[in-house]
Amino acid sequence: MLLAFSTFDRRTAYFWMASTIAPRPVAWVSSVSATGVINLAPFSFFQMITPLPPTLMICPQTNSDGSLKDTARNIRETGEFVVSLVSFPMVQQMNETSFAFDAGTSEFEQVGVVAAASHAVVPPRVALAPMSFECRATSFTQYPDATPPCAIILGEVIAAHADPAIVGEDGIIDPHRLDLVSRMGADWYGRTNSADNFSLRRPAGWAR
Ligand SMILES: Cc1cc2nc3c(=O)[nH]c(=O)nc-3n(C[C@H](O)[C@H](O)[C@H](O)COP(=O)(O)O)c2cc1C
Repeated sequence: MLLAFSTFDRRTAYFWMASTIAPRPVAWVSSVSATGVINLAPFSFFQMITPLPPTLMICPQTNSDGSLKDTARNIRETGEFVVSLVSFPMVQQMNETSFAFDAGTSEFEQVGVVAAASHAVVPPRVALAPMSFECRATSFTQYPDATPPCAIILGEVIAAHADPAIVGEDGIIDPHRLDLVSRMGADWYGRTNSADNFSLRRPAGWAR
């Protein structure tokens, strides 16, 4: 089946891409507006870019009226954000924070997510997250230039918080203990704590 992507509208392209480029990790992003309102929202267009300097990327789409989502606007205004990872027990709250609350509402308060002060940036982190990355935005690009349907935001990790419980006795981070949720298509999610996980050694001679 050939798919004529160049003729697709945003919704159709999203359907095919988001359902098949999966699973995607979920960044639960906290940010603060220029007027001090704390915001929290999930984004699955999220990846690490490089460990040196430690850099990650989130790509909030614009709202349907073309305006920036609160997260993107806050980061552009203040240059800071925190990415907390989402473990399975938090998935309901994470989902609730995706509701389009108005810009003056803090999802932390509205949904009852416990916040903890960050070490080096103003936005708080999700206190119970297994891992939180405090970031300083190093790049904010609207893509494509003319009619920006998304922002490409790079953030350098300047501090992070890890729950010691995610580390196994062998010192390796255990995906079962971490139990992160990932986004797939439609309303589907995956978990790192899956009986179907397997390990696979790199070919002999591969240097770490
Ligand atoms: C699991 C999950 C992943 C999401 N990923 C994205 C994403 O990558 N990009 C995006 O623009 N919206 C994404 N959303 C929707 C946003 O969370 C939603 O638009 C939210 O209201 C944005 O909040 P804000 O305006 O406070 O930034 C996602 C929602 C969920 C539940």
